[in-house]
Amino acid sequence: MSRQLSSSDQWIGQFDRLLRTLVPHAAQASRPSPAGDLPEASLSEAEREHAVGLMRINHTGEVCAQALYQGQGLTAKLPDTRGQMERAAQEEIDHLAWCDARLQELDGRTSLLNPLFYAASLGLGALAGGVGDRISLGFVAATEEQVGKHLDLHLQALPAADQRSRAVLEQMREDEAHHERWALEAGGARFPLPVKLGMRLVSKVMTQSVYRL
Ligand SMILES: [Fe+2]
Ligand SMILES: [Fe+2]
Repeated sequence: MSRQLSSSDQWIGQFDRLLRTLVPHAAQASRPSPAGDLPEASLSEAEREHAVGLMRINHTGEVCAQALYQGQGLTAKLPDTRGQMERAAQEEIDHLAWCDARLQELDGRTSLLNPLFYAASLGLGALAGGVGDRISLGFVAATEEQVGKHLDLHLQALPAADQRSRAVLEQMREDEAHHERWALEAGGARFPLPVKLGMRLVSKVMTQSVYRL
């Protein structure tokens, strides 16, 4: 009976996580937004739309991060690193909430495609976790490497005056680099180039569709 309860508790927990990720403004950050009291820029309409498109991509990236960590949590054993993985997942919730708040400030909305990317990432995470912890951690490292490169591009592409978005992305950049280092140090496999190229292709599909949708 108690085992059954704990398993249904677990499912409620997973469902709660899904809602917090997919329902706009539901995610609660544990750290204040790095945008802090930085002044709001006066952006032209084209600049505002561009900043919205970029921040929407970053928000969807964090939706994917939540689902990847959640999927891995379902199948990976991770006896030594589960705590650290949960800490990283909490930092990703901060990123999710900060991007969401910034989108609101810019009068933008989150992507309509989020449920789709959430489902795909959950499956991918569960698959990686099921193969083994070395692969699962390697997957975290390769994903974070990819996200880091992509954040560098966005830091260049943001309207120069948009300091508030920039501050958010800079802190995310730092956190993601930290996640990557940790996953490799914890024994994550280094993925071969073709796998990384495949991941880059998938992320291109995501970024191009979410910029508009
Ligand atoms: Fe993140
Ligand atoms: Fe991360």
